[in-house]
Amino acid sequence: MQRLDKAFSSCKLFSRTEIAKVLKQRRVCVNEVVVTKPDFKVDLAVDKITLDGNIVSFNKYAYIMLNKPYGVVSSTDDGRDTTVIDILPSEFKRDGLFPVGRLDKDTVGLVILTDDGASAHKRLSPKTHAEKVYYFEVADEVLVDTAKEIEQGVLLKDGYTTKPCRVKLISSKSGEITLTEGKYHEIKRIFGAKGNKITFLKRIEFAGIKLDDSLGAGECRYLTESEIELFTK
Ligand code: URA
Repeated sequence: MQRLDKAFSSCKLFSRTEIAKVLKQRRVCVNEVVVTKPDFKVDLAVDKITLDGNIVSFNKYAYIMLNKPYGVVSSTDDGRDTTVIDILPSEFKRDGLFPVGRLDKDTVGLVILTDDGASAHKRLSPKTHAEKVYYFEVADEVLVDTAKEIEQGVLLKDGYTTKPCRVKLISSKSGEITLTEGKYHEIKRIFGAKGNKITFLKRIEFAGIKLDDSLGAGECRYLTESEIELFTK
């Protein structure tokens, strides 16, 4: 058992002073009952604690799946554009959250946000070869032979040859591409090198974690236990 204000502050959700105010505003329930006392004792393994009606996660680290909408940037702080942190609902916000890897502003889909720097670093390390799967649409037809060439590696304009990848065509102008690296604008540059143009790009999987179909653009949820295992292994 521990004090309610301590539970919130040790998970970096609120400082002790902030949570005292939030409690006064009658926004916190423990097992469906409003609690206003900071020293109220809770057992995080058993008690259901909600803030503004939403269940609060008291895990040491937060792991969040976001379906990034179009026009939002994958950074923590941007003077001009709306960031993935800006659009998180308040109950998901906590200090130290950052997006794991980057999607372009005009790319949509799966972004994982966490404050677990060590696991994020591991997942992003080129040594781990975490697979990233994207659904793509292009302006012009992709021939089967072109898809095979892309799979073997493509020489980009800057002299870099991309690592082997997998391409599954769904139609002549759409498909899925699986990469194990994440170079700047990589997919756009791969198709550009083949004289084609990406018209739509959506990340649908990262390190074995699939984007939840039920999340609309801009919606998020916490990773499940098995997804956290895939992320932190
Ligand atoms: N490749 C791109 O070109 N853009 C992305 O956002 C991700 C991969």
